[in-house]
Formats: sequence, C-alpha cells, structure tokens
Amino acid sequence: MELTVIKEKVEPQKIVEVGTEKAVVYRTNQLNLWYGEHHALKEINLDIYENEVMAIIGPSGCGKSTYIKTLNRMIELVPNVRTSGEITYRGRNIFDPSYRVEELRTQVGMVFQKPNPFPKSIYDNVAYGPRIHGIRDKKILDEIVEKSLRGAAIWDEVKDRLHDHAYGLSGGQQQRLCIARCLAIEPDVILMDEPTSALDPISTLKIEELVQELKKRYSIIIVTHNMQQAARISDKTAFFLNGEVIECSDTDQLFSNPADKRTEDYITGRFG
Ligand SMILES: Nc1ncnc2c1ncn2[C@@H]1O[C@H](COP(=O)(O)OP(=O)(O)O)[C@@H](O)[C@H]1O
Ligand SMILES: [Mg+2]
Repeated sequence: MELTVIKEKVEPQKIVEVGTEKAVVYRTNQLNLWYGEHHALKEINLDIYENEVMAIIGPSGCGKSTYIKTLNRMIELVPNVRTSGEITYRGRNIFDPSYRVEELRTQVGMVFQKPNPFPKSIYDNVAYGPRIHGIRDKKILDEIVEKSLRGAAIWDEVKDRLHDHAYGLSGGQQQRLCIARCLAIEPDVILMDEPTSALDPISTLKIEELVQELKKRYSIIIVTHNMQQAARISDKTAFFLNGEVIECSDTDQLFSNPADKRTEDYITGRFG
C-alpha cells in the first residue's frame, strides 16, 4: 500500500476525548498510617478526580487532617509516623524514594485552618513562591501577583495597597491572600483543611464561591466539619470515622441517600 502525504492539506489534528471520564489525580490504595502505636488511617481507598471538589467530613479526630497532610507528604515532618499502602499522584507513587517532595509541592498547594500569611507585604506573600523558583524579573512578578490575586478574588480589595503588611488585612482577606499565594505557584491540586472555620459568615461565603470558581482549573480537596458547606460546594464527599472511609460518593447521593447507617447518623446530627 502506498501512502501519499499531501502536506498542504494536513489539518492540525484534534484530540478527541473518548467519553466524559475525568482523569484521576490522586489514587489512594489501601493506605494505613500510624503515629507510633496509634493506627490513625485504616485501609483508605479513595480516588480524586480532575476539576472536582472532594469534601472530607467526619467528627473531630477521625483522621481528616492526617489524610490531607499525607497527600502532600507534610506528614513526614511528624516523628514516628509510619505508612503502608500507596498514594499515586498523576500515576506516580508519592512515597517512592525517587519522588522529591519539592517536586510534589510545586503541584499541590495547601491552605490551612488559620490564615497564615508570612510577615511580609501582600505583594511579597504572593511573589514568595515564584521568587523561590528563580523568577526575578519585576514585570513577570507583577503579572503573577496580579493574576494570582485576581484568581483568589481579592485583587480589587488590595490593588492600591500591595506593599502594605499582610497582617493589616481581615481574617477573610488573609485567607484569600493565602489562596493567592497558592495559585502563584500554578498548582494542579489545592488542599484545604477547614479553610473557613476561623472566618465570619460573609468571608466564608466568599471562599465558598471562590472554590466553585477554582475547580474549573484545579482539583480541590477540602476538609470541613460543616456539612452544609460540604453539601453546597463539593461534587463528591468522603465520610471518615475512626480513621476509616465509611462512605464516599456523589455529594447529593451521600446527603440524600447515604448507604451506611453510620453516615446517616452523622449527617442527621446523631453524633459528631
Ligand atoms: N502529631 C500527632 N501525633 C500523634 N497523634 C496524632 C498526631 N496528629 C494527630 N494525631 C491523632 O490522630 C488522630 C487523627 O487526627 P487528625 O487527623 O488531626 O483528625 P481530624 O483532622 O479529623 O480532627 C487523632 O486521634 C489524633 O489525636
Ligand atoms: Mg483536622
């Protein structure tokens, strides 16, 4: 058979997606974690998909923070922690000795319960990550700072005082600044550990709206003890209890028709 290639007529090929399956970003496979003798995570299996919000709910002490800190390997800072099982991020085992933690952290940003801006100006908070990655050009830094602050829905509030100290911002603004700091490194995933629990209702609403906006470009895993919040903003919800995942499903499903009695008891407020 002869192949004739007519160069002039070759159109750029479109990549056609088969079906609407979303890519798995994180896959957790039979993960166990011990703090010394304390078995804090038990046989966790969980998939996290691209451009989705995964909410993690469950009573205090059930392992939510431990799990989220394992995803970016922050857990390694705690002495006497031991794990078994596997977590893959985009197909690579994050516990593999050749996986550099710095590399993982450029892909995975984290926002904490209490806003924790650096004791620096608003501008320098956001420019911090890019500077660490070697960006020195003022024009490029200016662009990154503006884009990140816009992305975190705080630009209009701070654009005239970029060189003011970050501690002068309100709690809710500080938390959005921390999100901007995260966006500045252009992450793939954003981990949030109870990001609104220290905030007033209006700031909470702003962060919730922001999460809806951010999921168009990022995958988000958010720990919350606020079930209404999980129901409002997440696509999937995982219910943790005593270090186990009791149930993980579409958020609507989990709240309207839980499969497990313990989930039902928790979401109807029988314990927690
Ligand atoms: N650094 C630590 N050392 C020992 N035990 C810990 C540590 N951090 C958390 N734990 C224990 O692990 C369990 C899960 O904690 P955590 O993940 O913080 O729960 P949650 O975020 O759901 O409230 C709890 O029993 C807690 O006491
Ligand atoms: Mg916690």
